[in-house]
Amino acid sequence: MPPQDDYDVLVIGSGAAGLGVALDLAAIRRVCVLAKADLQETNTRWAQGGVSAVIDPSDSIQEHIDDTLRAGAGLCQPAAVEHIVRHGRDRIEWLRDQGVPFTTETNANGESVMHLTQEGGHSRRRVVHADDATGLAIQTTLLARARAHPNIELLEWHIAIDLITLSKIGGTPDRCVGAYVLDRRTQNVKTLRAPSCVLASGGAGKVYLYTSNPDVATGDGVAMAWRAGCTVANMEFVQFHPTCLYHPKAKSFLVSEALRGEGARLLLPSGEPFMQRFDPRGELAPRDIVARAIDFEMKRLGADCVYLDISHQPAAFIRRHFPTIAQRCSEFGFDITQEPLPVVPAAHYFCGGVLTDLAGRTSLPGLYAVGEVACTGLHGANRMASNSLLECLVTARSAAESIVTTRDPVAHLPAIPAWDDSQVTDADEEIVVSHNWEELRRFMWDYVGIVRTTKRLERARRRVHLLRSEISEFYANFRVTSDLIELRNLVQVAELVIRCALKRKESRGLHFTLDYPAADDRNYLRDTILRPGDVG
Ligand code: FAD
Ligand code: SIN
Repeated sequence: MPPQDDYDVLVIGSGAAGLGVALDLAAIRRVCVLAKADLQETNTRWAQGGVSAVIDPSDSIQEHIDDTLRAGAGLCQPAAVEHIVRHGRDRIEWLRDQGVPFTTETNANGESVMHLTQEGGHSRRRVVHADDATGLAIQTTLLARARAHPNIELLEWHIAIDLITLSKIGGTPDRCVGAYVLDRRTQNVKTLRAPSCVLASGGAGKVYLYTSNPDVATGDGVAMAWRAGCTVANMEFVQFHPTCLYHPKAKSFLVSEALRGEGARLLLPSGEPFMQRFDPRGELAPRDIVARAIDFEMKRLGADCVYLDISHQPAAFIRRHFPTIAQRCSEFGFDITQEPLPVVPAAHYFCGGVLTDLAGRTSLPGLYAVGEVACTGLHGANRMASNSLLECLVTARSAAESIVTTRDPVAHLPAIPAWDDSQVTDADEEIVVSHNWEELRRFMWDYVGIVRTTKRLERARRRVHLLRSEISEFYANFRVTSDLIELRNLVQVAELVIRCALKRKESRGLHFTLDYPAADDRNYLRDTILRPGDVG
């Protein structure tokens, strides 16, 4: 039996980014796609609002670019914005060809056209959607395509533990050659070998106590890439979505920004609207502004939440446009057509990640990063709504195009030593892992949240260092479990966020600190880049 399973391409992640790469390559490459849980359980699956793209004839690529640059507060990479925005329409067409049922309407000429919504930061209606469950439509459609493809092997409940690099197994020059992967059903660790590996492992919302993200979003990709020697960037720019449903059982269910696009107002508990006091764009200001305004008002009033009200719109309109949200809210006892919804901000999206070029290439040869795990330069200091799925789809195609140009047969890679767990035993105290999870997520929320200070960040840094040494010891002595793998990664991600936040002594986009409340273009109009080996 060969010591490892071989593929042409190993894709870690089964969301829009991972399935996009796999489907773009499957005609000519043998691809393995990993998901650490059910294949369907991804951030992609929960996306509501949609995918931004220039579709309306009165819109223009330049306007989409300008809106994106404005939201990014000076840190977007213009070439990345141009590349991704320009290819948006093609990727929407591709999704339609795959069978994604986007919502349509009949225009004044009697033609069926895609219905477009508007979200924060966009100066026009340009968000293509499938009702209010766009992510589910994309996830289900792409997964069905991938399942049907003979060249794609889908491995669910398989969690990548670490990337394998030549330097780790005694070779040169350094490159990525595969990954060690825990089969969560059998508890065996497999060795998967491939000349091209793609991180498509999504975000890290679970590093915070309150998040819109599902449980899989534990930042594994960034942490693995960092340990493998990759450069990461802009981890301080964590986006908090302004409106998650406030209910003890709702697990931060998102109430889409598209409601505000259709006129929903944000209200204080007294019923008074407040967004105009913070920004002339009101409810459609970019998310950082809306989330900070809500945070400010909640703290000022000692309120548990604010309210989002769309009940002035006709009930039939609300039910037609937002069937999923209306249904989910009614399960928690709220009638969205009749009353305001209690909402709070929650961690939603990581603008930073593994630094890549436009083709998704990381600083480690053989390793690509695509989707939320990557930092392409599209979002800068703040992501505009619905630009993430766009980025996933466009860079998936660019990465696939780059991968096909590499002619690197897997058989030419060296044999990889099997995972060695001869020196470890089963953990005796699982409580350590669950306690540390809880502690980490809470102090990240309290000290590294929407509003920061240097003192809070330093406090968080001390805590994270303690946790890291405790977890390293645990990791060295006990057999790996998925909880331990995720906790190790979350702590790593937390440390990267704190380090980047401490480096940025100004406020810009999603990073706001009371100690430096203004932007400082002279010193900080640049990315925060971290390379392994950097001090501080
Ligand atoms: P994901 O879709 O999150 O997929 C990650 C995959 O990686 C999963 O399969 C997971 O199992 C796998 N994985 C992770 N770690 C490992 C590991 N160690 N081993 C193996 N597998 C692993 N963006 C928009 O543009 N428009 C929207 O309307 C929108 N709405 C959103 C609503 C919600 C509630 C949320 C949470 C996000 C929303 N976003 C939206 C953001 C967007 O959905 C995500 O940024 C995007 O879907 C990320 O896709 P991805 O393919 O990079 O990762
Ligand atoms: C939403 O529907 O409000 C989420 C959109 C996004 O995160 O891009």
